Amino acid sequence: MLKGKTAVVTGGAKGIGKAIALKLADLGANIVINYRSSEKEAESIIEELKTKGIKALAVKADVSKFEEAEVIMKAAVAEFGSLDILVNNAGITRDTLLLRMKEEDFDSVIEVNLKGCFNCIKHASSIMLKQKRGRIVNIASVIGLIGNAGQANYAAAKAGIIGITKSVAKELGSRGITVNAVAPGFIKTDMTDVLSDKVKDSMLDSIPLKRLGEPEDVANLVAFLASEEASYITGQVLNVDGGMVM
Ligand code: NAI
Repeated sequence: MLKGKTAVVTGGAKGIGKAIALKLADLGANIVINYRSSEKEAESIIEELKTKGIKALAVKADVSKFEEAEVIMKAAVAEFGSLDILVNNAGITRDTLLLRMKEEDFDSVIEVNLKGCFNCIKHASSIMLKQKRGRIVNIASVIGLIGNAGQANYAAAKAGIIGITKSVAKELGSRGITVNAVAPGFIKTDMTDVLSDKVKDSMLDSIPLKRLGEPEDVANLVAFLASEEASYITGQVLNVDGGMVM
């Protein structure tokens, strides 16, 4: 279904990004995994991806740095000849209540989660505009829709991602480029492993489907939005959250 297409997945060495990379590879896309520090994980996923009969490349870059984001997109085109799908997945948390939140806690989350998304869209879209086609999927969060005590920085960044998604969808729609956001709820990854059992149990209470999400639940939706079948969907925010937010 995605044979011959090239997909970039930022922060793709583990967690949700890794599941997305594997799913897109299952559908035949060549994959560029971006990572910042998880070199070993990136190398091992590249090996795993190659067993699927596609081409795969790992690019070390910090998406919060404008020039480094450009390196990722240029590498995709240099290696595979096109850039068809961008998944902005890289993200961090620095959770704490506003009273205790330091300026750098706020700045770092905005820099990686929101500015990183802008940086990658900026460089990828200039390539996609020339190609007159492209799919951009931004990983937001339900927290960007409903807020959360202890996550003012993260909620602001994820709400910002929703804003940039809708704006850029309006700008790029006439050029065959769709831009959508996926808003996961509570997904089992390193990011959520650090939470206490008490917090996890109280999350479960608010999830109608009565389970925490798997990275693959998010990857399935991203793969659909990246496909031809989703060609008439743009500017949308789709939740993958077991019904937590409705
Ligand atoms: P994770 O911590 O397992 O993976 C995040 C990845 O982003 C890591 O590979 C990390 O190295 C990479 N990364 C961080 N900063 C980077 C930078 N400056 N440049 C390049 N890569 C960078 O977390 P997870 O859970 O897989 O999260 C993936 C995305 O999904 C994030 O955007 C997160 O905010 C979002 N999300 C996760 C939810 C969850 O419940 N796990 C819920 C809602 C959204």
